[in-house]
Amino acid sequence: MFTLAHLSDIHLSPLPRARRSDLMSKRILGYVNWHRGRKYVHRREVLDLVTRDLIERKPDHIAVTGDLVNLGLPEEFLRAAEWLHHLGPPSDVTAIPGNHDAYVRLHPEAGTGHWKPYMQSNEAGEIIVPTPPSLFPFVRRFGDIAIVALSSAIPTAPFIAAGKVGSRQRKLLGEALARLGDKGLFRVVLVHHPPLPGQSNWARGLRDAGRTTRVIRQYGAELVLHGHNHEQTVNEIKTVSGTAYVIGVPSASEAIEGRLPAARYNEYRIARKRDGWRVEMIGRSVAANPEHVWESEHRVLRER
Ligand SMILES: [Fe+2]
Ligand SMILES: [Fe+2]
Repeated sequence: MFTLAHLSDIHLSPLPRARRSDLMSKRILGYVNWHRGRKYVHRREVLDLVTRDLIERKPDHIAVTGDLVNLGLPEEFLRAAEWLHHLGPPSDVTAIPGNHDAYVRLHPEAGTGHWKPYMQSNEAGEIIVPTPPSLFPFVRRFGDIAIVALSSAIPTAPFIAAGKVGSRQRKLLGEALARLGDKGLFRVVLVHHPPLPGQSNWARGLRDAGRTTRVIRQYGAELVLHGHNHEQTVNEIKTVSGTAYVIGVPSASEAIEGRLPAARYNEYRIARKRDGWRVEMIGRSVAANPEHVWESEHRVLRER
């Protein structure tokens, strides 16, 4: 059995000190938003509780689906790299970027470049699906399990949190899913934005949700994990190789008394059966008085 933990939307706090010159961009709106309310929503103590619980449970692998930072300040990327190191070594943790990680256009070395070891294929994945020059999708393989990591993070205008996979990545996604499917592997797709049409509105959604979903239906996948909406959602889609579960998770730092569900991560237990797969989902959520993490859900997603 393989255990995969999924957490998302870290929105790491506290915010580092920002220079005035750093705020001469879309960041100024984010800065005002942060100090008006978001800092009360995304709390470091909550994230630390979640992280501790997750590390104690020793999953085989951890997937982090974006929005590690808030305004894209250079110092935020360094702090997020430290947080990733605390979570585990790059061989045990896969990360992809979210819209907040592409908040403003930055030289890669000043931004998500700091997370590179967590955002690249492993040897076993590279043999089956070589990483393209554009770096996404990259593939990591762990025995029976293959992770296909997409980037939907694009710089956008103020007030826009949309994403896009893009035609080149969609084509490579199809090829990767086909090859991994031929090998009989359990395919997990990671994408920050919810990939199904209608899951987010125009200003927040994946611009090519319909076309991305069509690729998944056409080539098959077993599990699609995303963040961005800061909510727990479970959807099923029919693909050429059976049902794919499309699952979103709340933010890993969401305060308990918020508008959205409290912080949570999900753990998947995946086991090969003679004629398919058995998959269980365990929700681990934060609750109050005293603040602790508990098993808020435990269900069998598929028996085969
Ligand atoms: Fe987010
Ligand atoms: Fe997001």
